[in-house]
Amino acid sequence: MAVIALNVLAQVARYKVDMLMPYILAIASILLANLFVAFFHKKKDYFAFGISGVALLGSISVFLLPQIGQFYLENIIEGLYFGMFLMAIVPVIIKIKPFTFFISAKDYPQVIVNSNNFLKLNNLMSVIWAFLFALGIIFTAIPYANDEALQTIIATLVPIAFLIMVGIPLNKYLPGYLMQNAAGERIVFSSLAEAGEAMPYGLSKELSKGLDTVVQFEMTGEEAGITHLNIKDQKCEYKQEAHPNPDTVIKADSGIWLDVMNNKLSGDKAFLNKMFEVEGDATILLIFHDLFTPKNLQDIARYEPRKMAYDYKSFRPGQVKNIVVFDGGPRSKKFSKTTFMADNFVAGAKSAGATVDYIKLSDHKIRHCSGCYTCWTKTPGECIYNDDMTELRKKYRQADLVIFASPLYVFSVTGILKDFMDRLLPVMKPYILLDEKGHTKHPDRFPEKGEQGFVVFSAAGFPEVEHNFDGLQGMFRLWDSHSEHMHLMGEFFMTAAEIAVQPVYANRLKLIAEACFNGGKDVVEKGVIDKKDMQAVSFPGVTRTRFQQEADNFWETLDGKAGYLKEVPTLNT
Ligand SMILES: Cc1cc2nc3c(=O)[nH]c(=O)nc-3n(C[C@H](O)[C@H](O)[C@H](O)COP(=O)(O)O)c2cc1C
Repeated sequence: MAVIALNVLAQVARYKVDMLMPYILAIASILLANLFVAFFHKKKDYFAFGISGVALLGSISVFLLPQIGQFYLENIIEGLYFGMFLMAIVPVIIKIKPFTFFISAKDYPQVIVNSNNFLKLNNLMSVIWAFLFALGIIFTAIPYANDEALQTIIATLVPIAFLIMVGIPLNKYLPGYLMQNAAGERIVFSSLAEAGEAMPYGLSKELSKGLDTVVQFEMTGEEAGITHLNIKDQKCEYKQEAHPNPDTVIKADSGIWLDVMNNKLSGDKAFLNKMFEVEGDATILLIFHDLFTPKNLQDIARYEPRKMAYDYKSFRPGQVKNIVVFDGGPRSKKFSKTTFMADNFVAGAKSAGATVDYIKLSDHKIRHCSGCYTCWTKTPGECIYNDDMTELRKKYRQADLVIFASPLYVFSVTGILKDFMDRLLPVMKPYILLDEKGHTKHPDRFPEKGEQGFVVFSAAGFPEVEHNFDGLQGMFRLWDSHSEHMHLMGEFFMTAAEIAVQPVYANRLKLIAEACFNGGKDVVEKGVIDKKDMQAVSFPGVTRTRFQQEADNFWETLDGKAGYLKEVPTLNT
């Protein structure tokens, strides 16, 4: 009010300062009184301090330093913005809470207001406001028109319009943006209630995209009670009551859960050690930690999707009618992820009308190849050993589509599958074919089938395809390029397979089952497998550091126990 009065006086008297003296003195006294009152009541009204301070100094200088006083009176509006500029910048410089702190504190729970992060973000906001007020000074000082009255009107309106148009949206959206993106640190909660209240403000917009889920917490112990978080439309709501239809229910002792929330106890470890229980969709646990972690602390070491550059063979729709699977893994259906994939592929192929012969090679008697070449010399096409391979070779020759399934063992296939493949030598002749691409091949001894296709399935412990699968993949691709009639139609490589049986990966296993099923159906119906399905299987759905933690925890829980085949959850196929 005082500044407006000063401004009006200056305008009315056309800057004839002498006439104004008594009024200015009165206004200066009011400003001084205002400052005293604010100071003694310890009011954190920086607005009043900044504006009144500048106005007071300006009015006093009218008496003591007339030249500066004259200058001030001629530029009262600039002085107003200068006051606001000081109000925004001075607290940041002298390291006290900035003006935005007190405004925004009303919208946040105490635990957030007390955090260092909150102070940092408000400092940043205040610096931005200081910049806007500095622009206010410039916009007021710019000459817009020759006419004095018009100039006064424009010079008054432009900065106000600017501050409204830029400042208001900035005030609305910037805090949220900064909360998400500016450097942050973890808040340590002293209770679960405190954590619950803070969580809606810490939800990562990016990671919660598309998420629509209700997580219920059923706590026992010190903070016993039921609460839930409803995460939807990139927003999160915390309620201290039960939800009628939660997607996930976490049952824990409140002290343990508080430790998990504060990152004092690894959630994975606590889960594997059965320190809390999860009912319903446990997938949320995979991202729960990152979902409420400041962006700079989130685990960003994510895996890239597998590159799918290979030129796989396509057949005519309906060309694949009979399929034989050679499963070279030593584990049973209950535990083998390789078998899990091949089984789902077979189900898809059968649904499209194919007949399938599933052969578990470990159930058969297959000797090692002796390297005698008798099958190429004395008895062409016949091996010196008359074991199960005699029958299996026939099945290999007669199938439209051969499936090679093997877990990844030492970056390659298992010994079981390798023995089987070595013993396929009799189906080739020793002579040499040179194809147009420069590949050297042996001709097929029994070309009665014409073109045949093959598909590879392999599950591995490590989470990456590149490097890890290079050996196995390379061998099968050479089988493709160096065979006369056997063509590679697809490769399904499941990464991070060992930890995938945990309930948190239920969705991943479902996706893998669907992708393999689609592959089997498509290869029969369309004669081609969609690369997206092969790619989906390989995506580990976990970051590098999380993989490390989870794998270590997984094996640690088994350390010294009865054994894998007793302790690890089985696959439900
Ligand atoms: C002898 C042996 C060698 C292994 N070598 C590798 C390897 O080179 N790379 C890898 O990622 N995993 C390796 N693993 C882990 C297996 O690939 C993993 O346990 C996989 O889930 C096995 O597939 P399955 O579930 O179908 O049996 C190896 C496992 C064994 C027992």
